[in-house]
Amino acid sequence: MDSKLPHVGTTIFTVMSQLAQDCGAINLSQGFPSFEPDARLLDLVTQRLHSGANQYAPMTGVPALRQAIAAKAGRLYDRGVDADAEVTVTAGATEALFCAIHAVVRPGDEVIVLDPAYDSYEPAVTLAGGATLHLPLVSSAERPELHIDWQRLRDAITDRTRVVMLNFPHNPTGTVLGPGDLDTLAEVVRDTGILIISDEVYEHIIFDGASHLSVLRHDELWQRAFVISSFGKTYHATGWKVGYCVAPEALSTEFRKVHQFNCFCVVSPIQHALADFMQLDPAYPDGLADFYQQKRDQFCALMRESRFRFVPAAGTYFQVLDYSAISAEDDIGFARRLTREIGVASIPVSVFCASHPPTRTLRFCFAKDDDVLKQAATLLCEL
Ligand SMILES: Cc1ncc(COP(=O)(O)O)c(C=O)c1O
Repeated sequence: MDSKLPHVGTTIFTVMSQLAQDCGAINLSQGFPSFEPDARLLDLVTQRLHSGANQYAPMTGVPALRQAIAAKAGRLYDRGVDADAEVTVTAGATEALFCAIHAVVRPGDEVIVLDPAYDSYEPAVTLAGGATLHLPLVSSAERPELHIDWQRLRDAITDRTRVVMLNFPHNPTGTVLGPGDLDTLAEVVRDTGILIISDEVYEHIIFDGASHLSVLRHDELWQRAFVISSFGKTYHATGWKVGYCVAPEALSTEFRKVHQFNCFCVVSPIQHALADFMQLDPAYPDGLADFYQQKRDQFCALMRESRFRFVPAAGTYFQVLDYSAISAEDDIGFARRLTREIGVASIPVSVFCASHPPTRTLRFCFAKDDDVLKQAATLLCEL
């Protein structure tokens, strides 16, 4: 078979989760919480399941949920958004990313992604006939945290560049945008037709008192952006696969043309329940940063006893650990061995990079109960 995606196999997330299960290892690989959604939200889902919300939802999303999303954009990012024309509910952020890419990328177009990059971007670009250009995030003496190399981005832009993909807070590294980054990006894309797809699924998980620099906050960038988020990450419900895209009307119109024939509409009772919950407790997401910061701090404090080296994540629920003081093995081999022999599963960071260069770094998900994190850290500290 002449595959359209010859380089794509089963994702590493599935592979590592399966290996963890087979070995009885603690699974800190795939990014999902080990705890349940809020009991009030679960009750609302039950109520909605039993009150006739079980048929097709409107294609663009349940109106009350779109309104709640628009209200959130106003409350958190000071962005007035038209719930009818500019908000679309999707089957997770993954579907939103796919629709946004397919809405705007044509054969021959280039899409710039920043490595390490989430694994769904490139296959979607390839299927749209586009080419993905990978630029590494960099660190420097003046700015030690990973960040965008603006000169390199400027130099990479050609007439074919159609989209710059952003993902901050960043999976897997946990790095976040700095104060001037969005202004610099606006200046770089000004007077071009380049669009922005901003994957902000970890928008509420940001630490040390920082606030999330959403593209929604930025008057100029917002005009050319699809801003994507996920209820799965925010409400500890990754299995529900409900997300959304906020984009100006002209972009949303194109986005919806793809969504309409990709998924058409998203699971009705969950949409209604999320709308109910967002009305009941609009500030719920504001508590996530402290909740996950406590977990990051606990995991990092425990790992200080180990031979792993790390910089605490600034956001997301992932911590990258460098094992070069422990082994010279490549990260895929080391991650497998760690799962089989030590009993802790992680994700090798090289799989997020275009040419899979070997790294000595692994990504651990700390969205787990405290005792699970303690057990995992105890095992890792033995290395
Ligand atoms: C950066 C990033 N984008 C998108 C997604 C997908 O989100 P969803 O499960 O809502 O499709 C994830 C999930 O891990 C992610 O980490």
